[in-house]
Amino acid sequence: MATEGVPIVKSSHVITSMVEEPLPWPLVSDEQDKAGILAAQVSFTDRRMIKTTLLVVIVTSLVAVILTSCGGAYAAPATATLVYSGNLDGELEPCGCSEAGDLGGILRRASKLDELRKQQPALFLISSGSLLANASPRDRLKSEYILKGIAAMNYDAIGLQWRDLAYGVDFLNTTIPLPWTVTNWEKQRVFPPQRNIKHGDVELAFFSWLDPGSSPFQQMKGNHNPAINNADRLQTALQKANQKGLVTVLTTSLTLDQAEKLVALDNIDILVIKSAYEKYGKPVLEGKTLVLQPGSRGMRLGRVDLKIDKKGNITSWQHDVIPLPESIPDAPSLKAWYDEYNTKVKAAYLASSEQRKLQQSGQSPYTGSEACQSCHEKPGKIWSESLHARAFERLEEVGKSFDPDCIICHTVGFEQPGGYIDARLTTHLLNVQCESCHGAGKAHTDSLGGKPTPNAGWTKEKICDQCHTQPHSPDFDFDSYWAHIAH
Ligand code: HEC
Ligand code: HEC
Ligand code: HEC
Ligand code: HEC
Repeated sequence: MATEGVPIVKSSHVITSMVEEPLPWPLVSDEQDKAGILAAQVSFTDRRMIKTTLLVVIVTSLVAVILTSCGGAYAAPATATLVYSGNLDGELEPCGCSEAGDLGGILRRASKLDELRKQQPALFLISSGSLLANASPRDRLKSEYILKGIAAMNYDAIGLQWRDLAYGVDFLNTTIPLPWTVTNWEKQRVFPPQRNIKHGDVELAFFSWLDPGSSPFQQMKGNHNPAINNADRLQTALQKANQKGLVTVLTTSLTLDQAEKLVALDNIDILVIKSAYEKYGKPVLEGKTLVLQPGSRGMRLGRVDLKIDKKGNITSWQHDVIPLPESIPDAPSLKAWYDEYNTKVKAAYLASSEQRKLQQSGQSPYTGSEACQSCHEKPGKIWSESLHARAFERLEEVGKSFDPDCIICHTVGFEQPGGYIDARLTTHLLNVQCESCHGAGKAHTDSLGGKPTPNAGWTKEKICDQCHTQPHSPDFDFDSYWAHIAH
């Protein structure tokens, strides 16, 4: 497995209480571990944790006795910083197609976290999950590198969402260990139901609810749903953690309304609900529960600074959203990871190009712009002076001319029969051209304009929407954009 060059910082904090007093679920034991359920790396961590835990239990019990006599979990009011995110949704890096959308990416996130940890070494770092994407066959490679990149950031706990299971449990556990947590997983051995994390004076109990109602397994025959409806157990565990003075955190893809129906909020200090699209929601206080809503696509990070009283209750908080613009440098520690990713994307692209060349049979339905310009002089002149005619150069400038995720909108007919393959074989289909908008035009050309172009029935907006999508062109407005290229 190619993890070379990927620096993995091992967790320095102590995870406790996986075997403290009886919890309402079975625990990960060495025996189950030997049954081969967990991947080698994962079980290593767990075994170590369990051993550390025994020690910690003894020590904490002693401390607890002393503390109980003082009447609280902490000797004095404490402070804590929590950095949170959710729904990366496969965004390993921003495309850079527009300034407004040029936020986020794993390289910038890692260096921002380094900076934050320098100021506040004891910060808690959590995610509500949905890291991966599975929209195209290429997303598997991307997902693998997302997991490896996230592993380098030393997360404390990550909730699991359905999309994270797109390539199966084994994919998660054998790619690289991450602190996945699912409170209502049928087989608790696969993912711990609860993680207790201690940084500085503060201990946090992390839970994550995987909504059985939105399980893709529901569609299947038989009962394959690995998420179970055991809200009562969640409730009990939250209560226990709360009574011990831990700061309790629950993440879920449910809305606030749905979460309130699932479980009483009384024992939850921090509830992380269904992500908003891109932008973080404003935190709200619901009773004594602080409700946080992450933004998606990894464009920003949320940060909340907490003051905690002796009983582990939040007494005050300050919330910040941290954008990740281009001015944040790429983390040097992830350079090898990024180079390796690009090398693999390129290799896969070259292999698929070879396939396409072999499959290319007969005549292409595309002609390239030159053929069109002989009859349509004015549109030809306007187009050749527009940036569309140089769109591929943009990819070359940023070293992405071999990445299919980019090529698709910066060339003509990529992944269509007879469309763009590579810069040498299909030079006439580089850049955004007439046929990107009007459709493959050979039949129209051969008939001297007698046959209409394939997209003749489309609205103008539909033509642009193929590429000027919200993530790639957030400021797109038909009239003002069309004015630049009207012909
Ligand atoms: C869905 C279509 C689409 C995809 C996929 C796409 N782009 Fe773009 N790209 C665009 C559009 C549309 C613009 C013009 C945006 C605007 O001006 O509103 C653009 C513009 C750009 C620019 C010029 C930015 C500038 O400020 O001048 C660069 C660089 C770029 N893209 C790189 C990439 C890279 C790298 C990828 C792959 C990671 C990518 N694009 C994937 C559609 C796409
Ligand atoms: C970025 C997309 C885009 C590109 C690139 C583009 N066109 Fe167009 N073209 C359009 C749209 C949209 C219209 C307007 C259609 C309408 O008015 O309904 C149009 C209109 C036309 C018309 C006039 C149709 C009419 O009924 O008046 C012709 C001819 C034409 N384009 C030819 C070309 C040629 C030739 C090229 C390349 C040299 C080209 N276009 C490049 C989007 C594009
Ligand atoms: C041999 C000359 C010739 C060539 C080459 C040619 N066209 Fe045309 N095109 C015409 C004529 C003539 C019409 C007008 C047809 C009509 O109005 O019925 C036309 C109409 C159009 C229209 C408007 C009607 C429609 O079918 O959408 C578009 C758009 C267009 N051409 C795009 C292109 C593109 C793109 C190419 C290159 C792939 C191209 N043309 C190549 C002669 C040509
Ligand atoms: C096949 C994908 C694609 C389609 C379809 C497309 N665009 Fe673009 N557009 C791009 C890309 C890529 C860029 C960035 C080019 C660059 O910066 O070099 C861009 C840039 C632009 C720009 C800014 C650059 C300039 O020349 O000022 C305008 C304006 C624009 N597009 C208008 C439109 C309109 C209007 C439509 C629909 C009629 C449209 N585009 C359809 C891909 C597309």
